[in-house]
Amino acid sequence: MFSLFLALVGLLPIIVASPLPAEYRRTMASDENHGNRLVFCHFMMGIVSNRQNASDYDDDMKRAKDAGIDAFALNIGTDPYTDTQLALAYQSAADNDMKVFISFDFNWWQASEATSVGVKVAEFAHHPAQLMVDGRVFVSSFSGDGVDVNEMKAAAGSDVYFAPNYHPGQGDFGDVDAALNWMGWSSDGRNKAPTAETNITVADGDNAYNEALDGKPLIAPVSPWFSTHYGTEVSYSKNWVFPSDLLWYNRWREILETGPRFVEIVTWNDYGESHYIGPLSSPHTDDGASKWVMDMPHNGWLDMAKPFIAAYKAGSEFPIDFLEEEKLVYWYRPTPKEADCDATDTTMQGDPDNSSGNFFRGRPNGSDTMTDEVFIVTMLKEPATVEVQSGDKIETFEADAGVWSHSVPMGVGAQSFKVTRDDEPVESLCGTSLRDITDTCPCGIYNFNAYVGTLPAEDFIDELQPAGLSMLTEGLQVECAINTLSSACA
Ligand SMILES: *[C@@H]1O[C@H](CO)[C@@H](O)[C@H](O)[C@H]1NC(C)=O
Ligand SMILES: *[C@@H]1O[C@H](CO)[C@@H](O)[C@H](O)[C@H]1NC(C)=O
Ligand SMILES: *[C@@H]1O[C@H](CO)[C@@H](O)[C@H](O)[C@H]1NC(C)=O
Ligand SMILES: *[C@@H]1O[C@H](CO)[C@@H](O)[C@H](O)[C@H]1NC(C)=O
Repeated sequence: MFSLFLALVGLLPIIVASPLPAEYRRTMASDENHGNRLVFCHFMMGIVSNRQNASDYDDDMKRAKDAGIDAFALNIGTDPYTDTQLALAYQSAADNDMKVFISFDFNWWQASEATSVGVKVAEFAHHPAQLMVDGRVFVSSFSGDGVDVNEMKAAAGSDVYFAPNYHPGQGDFGDVDAALNWMGWSSDGRNKAPTAETNITVADGDNAYNEALDGKPLIAPVSPWFSTHYGTEVSYSKNWVFPSDLLWYNRWREILETGPRFVEIVTWNDYGESHYIGPLSSPHTDDGASKWVMDMPHNGWLDMAKPFIAAYKAGSEFPIDFLEEEKLVYWYRPTPKEADCDATDTTMQGDPDNSSGNFFRGRPNGSDTMTDEVFIVTMLKEPATVEVQSGDKIETFEADAGVWSHSVPMGVGAQSFKVTRDDEPVESLCGTSLRDITDTCPCGIYNFNAYVGTLPAEDFIDELQPAGLSMLTEGLQVECAINTLSSACA
């Protein structure tokens, strides 16, 4: 088996380059065990206390299912509304033929609470929407090294399939059935951006997990971005980024190459750390994230993932074989790095508690690992010429058929895209983004989140709802207009 695998790897560049029929390529790259692959997406229950009924979850369930996501990992703390919301989420999942499972967040749960964890698992274990893996109730976590697994299973009343986010060298991997590697971003190993000296990539993390798992399945993370910018207006001040840029595209390529049994998208709705791929309009409360999330939709990232998810589940390395519709997905930060927001930025005010070590003043820590570029993923059935005008900079490139990444230098001003074939414009793939790049600070802050757009453009303007905007003005030093995106024909 092993030598066959090596042989295939050796052949791949040739296979990619030659125009073989799609069916043949699929067979060459396929992994016989791909049939049991599953894609999860991390969903924060801590910010959805305002949901009133199961229907409030329907849009999330439908969108995720439509993209090929198999189950939401419902991240729970110990809030008073957790049980009510879990019941609504399970109900909506059942109504929409989706699956869900609980992911215990050990920032709030204690590793010593194995019985309480098991009791909570038992409450939903027989629900029709509960994800079962190999016939067992599937349960995961954020952190949680050291839970007494036998005690948990006894309280759960079944042989739970336990796939926690234990850490190599900390938790006992002999006790688990699988494990989640949470670190979807390269880092310095101390939860900050990598430096030239210390650079731990996502793949390095996967390798450490695979070693600890010794043949058991890995849940490999895939995340699009990381930027958080809480100032002194909240008690959890933190301000850093991980290198993001083309991470979403590059990591999906890596997933297709390595083919782990499970993948977890990090996340659906963690707006605070900017790694959401769900809509802004998905009902949620504001933990202060609206300052960098308003008018920054990410739905195009879910569109980009779709052919990768389909390829992954088919055991293929060729998303082109799973393209339903031609698309351009593009993204960029709203200001160049050099924009100086010190005079009005929220992190420049007051004197916050920095016991976490996560608070920095001004530009986010790690911001120099992001580049001033517009990133474009072309999803094309036939080759085409793509012209990008970013401010006053114009770049033209040839895009092959398939799903490929590109980047062009960022310019201040409007962002326009034009796809042509034989000098004829492809009308559906021409248009101007709803958001300009500016050299002034949006709402007065350093905003290192990404704006994501698509062509054809989405058929709705994705906006934060009132509950998702409730903390917008807290700490802001300047006036800030609300929900400013509008389509040209509005
Ligand atoms: C569910 O609650 C929302 C408000 O959150 C409301 O708009 C909607 O009509 C309710 N749906 C049903 C089916 O009760
Ligand atoms: C870290 O390593 C990755 C992969 O080799 C590389 O692309 C990136 O530039 C490195 N980052 C730093 C800060 O050196
Ligand atoms: C917060 O703590 C970290 C880690 O000790 C430190 O690097 C950083 O400079 C501190 N932030 C401020 C504003 O002092
Ligand atoms: C982030 O801050 C740390 C101090 O905690 C510093 O050592 C490091 O160089 C900074 N990282 C980057 C990429 O600037």
